[in-house]
Amino acid sequence: MQIIHQLKMLRKTVSELRADGSTVAIVPTMGALHEGHLTLVRAAKQRADHVIATIFVNPTQFGPNEDLDAYPRQLAQDAAMLEEEGTAALWAPAVEEMYPGGFSSSIRVAGVSEGFCGADRPGHFDGVATVVCKLFNQVRPDLAFFGEKDWQQLAVIRQMARDLDLMLPEATDIIGVPTVREADGLAMSSRNRYLDKTDRAAAVALPNGMKHAIAAITSGDAVTEVLAQLQKSLIAAGFASVDYAQLADADSLKPLDTKPTKPARLLVAARIGGTRLIDNMAVPG
Ligand code: PAJ
Repeated sequence: MQIIHQLKMLRKTVSELRADGSTVAIVPTMGALHEGHLTLVRAAKQRADHVIATIFVNPTQFGPNEDLDAYPRQLAQDAAMLEEEGTAALWAPAVEEMYPGGFSSSIRVAGVSEGFCGADRPGHFDGVATVVCKLFNQVRPDLAFFGEKDWQQLAVIRQMARDLDLMLPEATDIIGVPTVREADGLAMSSRNRYLDKTDRAAAVALPNGMKHAIAAITSGDAVTEVLAQLQKSLIAAGFASVDYAQLADADSLKPLDTKPTKPARLLVAARIGGTRLIDNMAVPG
């Protein structure tokens, strides 16, 4: 597996990989890889001839009081894991390579990026959309893989790709991969390592509470009541606060306060021991 730090070299590698008509898939990440990321790589390998993984801790998607400096960086270990999965190349640019002096553009996706994490983390999805658009233009992949773990991110990227003609048949097909969970149900995340033993044990209240809430909504209980109950149960379990616990249309992310009549999603962000955890699950409509 080639580890590439220069855009010029990336372009050369991609054109070599494509020379015989092979297809290329991209798996964008910020590193600190776990089974969730590796599942994306495996899904990509099944669908494309070559996989290019990217590792870039993108400063523009972190707010001023967020964990940019503390975000785990372990390139050598991540590279070994990717190599094991048969990844063709790892694109790991430095910040100055991605954003050379004078860089001044930004992509803002209105609508889907505005509630939920977009409301709690101003500018976050502008940073995500801009860097993902750059990654698409740098690699020009046939397929791009993203996790459903970040449901709103996936919706933002799909909207951007549709709006800016980045999608197939002309360009990239965007594929969402179901969330990979720990044995107890907690969604895998690079941020789970911030949790101490007590908080890690308490964190399971998040997926458990969500499953419970979905069962209640499906059986006809009042949605606003169920969501209030979910928030209370998280605080009782040891969460410090709940940023949101909301039912929404699965595609438009428009909030719903009654039992859904088409596919919906329960989305939650909550803080425990200084760490912000997010999760989402399907609610049948
Ligand atoms: P990161 O948090 O590293 O996640 C990289 C990809 O892995 C995302 O598509 C994310 O949804 C997926 N992922 C994370 N945990 C997962 C899990 N438990 N199951 C399935 N997929 C999971 O998301 C980002 O990086 C960045 O915002 C990025 C898109 C790379 C832009 O900087």
